[in-house]
Formats: sequence, C-alpha cells, structure tokens
Amino acid sequence: MIRTTLLSLILFSTALLSSARAAERETQTPAEKLTTSRRVLIIAHRGDSKAAPENTLPAFRSALQAGADLVELDYYHSSDGVPVVFHDKELDRTTDAVRRWGGEKIPLTSKSLAELRKLDAGSWFDAKFAGTRIPTLARSIEVIQAGSVTLVERKGGDAKTCVALLEKHRWTERLVVQAFDWDYLADCHRLAPKLVLGALGSKEITAARLDQIENCGASVVGWNYQDLRKSDVVEIHRRGLRVWVYTVDDLKVAQRLIDLGVDGLITNVPGKMRKLVAP
Ligand code: G3P
Ligand code: CA
Repeated sequence: MIRTTLLSLILFSTALLSSARAAERETQTPAEKLTTSRRVLIIAHRGDSKAAPENTLPAFRSALQAGADLVELDYYHSSDGVPVVFHDKELDRTTDAVRRWGGEKIPLTSKSLAELRKLDAGSWFDAKFAGTRIPTLARSIEVIQAGSVTLVERKGGDAKTCVALLEKHRWTERLVVQAFDWDYLADCHRLAPKLVLGALGSKEITAARLDQIENCGASVVGWNYQDLRKSDVVEIHRRGLRVWVYTVDDLKVAQRLIDLGVDGLITNVPGKMRKLVAP
C-alpha cells in the first residue's frame, strides 16, 4: 500500500515537473530557447573571418553557409551616431583609410557614416573582396537573422540607441547582446528585460564577479577559454548561467572545452568546428 502511494506520488510529481518545463519552454523567447538548449553552440567570430574579411556582409553570409548557430559581430557609433560594424577602434588595419586620407591611427568614431561607407574594407584581406563596405549594424543583423542568430558585441555606443534599433526591427527577443562593459549590459537589461545578455571577461572567475554578472541581468558568461577551469563551469551552471568561450580555432582545444562542459564555442573557423558538433 505504502509502496503504491509512493509510486503514484513520484509519477505525479514527474508529470508536474515535465508540464512545468513544457510551460516554461512555451514562454521562452527564441533567443532564450537557443541559449538554454543542451547542445554546444558554434558561434562564428566576426563572421566566417578566416574565409572573408571580418565583420563584413561576405563574412556573415559565409558563416550562414558554414552552419553557425550564432554569428558574432562588433559595433561602434559613427560620428553622426549610426551604429556600424567594426572591430578595432581605428580604421587603419582593415580599411584603406590611411591611404585615402593620410595620417595614422584614424579613429572610426571621428568619421560620419557617409565617410565610412566610402572605405574599402575588403582589399586588406584579399583582392577578390575589393570594394567591400563597412556595414551598418542594422543591415548586418538583417543579413544574419535570415539564416542564423546575431551575437552583437558592443564596443562603443549607448544602450538606449542599441535597444531602440532592436525594438524597431523586432529583434529584441531573437538575438543576444554581449559586452565587456557590464554597466552597459545593466542599462540594456533595464530597457529591455527580455533581451538575452552575455557578460564578457577574462582572468579569474570569482564569486564576486559572477554575482556582478547575475546582477546586471546577463545569462551567458563569455570567457577567455585560457582562463576557464572545470570548477568555474560547475559553478556557472549551478547558478543557472551558460558559458561560452572565445576564441577557439583548434579542434583538440575545442574538444577539451566541450569535455569541460562549455555551452558555446566562439571561433574564427565555424565550418571546421561544425564537424565536431552536430547541429
Ligand atoms: O566574442 C568575444 C570576442 O569577440 C571578444 O574579443 O576582441 O575579438 O572582440 P574581440
Ligand atoms: Ca568581438
């Protein structure tokens, strides 16, 4: 008798738990569903950046072809306040700005969108990409969302402008925003509580830093893989957070990190990593 009652209780609570999980899944946004899924996510760093010039539309299109679960990009504001996709503070390394305008160490934020759009952001990588332009954040997201999910990294610019852009295009629940500046993330969280956020960092992961990450509303910890230990992964998961690592291009290193329990690999070679992890 006792045994039958106990069994019924167990069955009842299991059914309750699975229906609660199903209800939770139904209320999750598409971005939450992706970031809480159990599989290891392959994230193309600056697009498919070994195949095409980083942070350009060809690199994003190539990342979609490679089957990336997410496509990462970096953005700043132009001098007239338009978010544009670019990694460095200065234009020198990946454009013809120095040849065109003279001088050196030309800050991206000193140029208007019209000026930036004149630059060649492809020839430095390969002559076949000559004439490739610096894309706006809006156009880049549009291209990526057609076949993947954008991982927007803020390098410069305020949260209000970013959230307004995402809301205007109804992208707030469909992508992820990450930053090394956790105050920026806290601002994003206040403005758009459903937006999935990733807190970037490196060096030691302490309880205090994880508290800060939780307090700013981030649900993903984006860490330098060289600084991550097994105990960090265990603690991050215990808190209900996810951990993605940057930037991993070696298959053996990637496998070691998967064995450690990471939830996402940020990589310059998404096609190569895709072979390691099934979609
Ligand atoms: O996604 C994290 C990684 O992109 C951070 O480093 O310098 O490539 O933006 P960085
Ligand atoms: Ca980045």
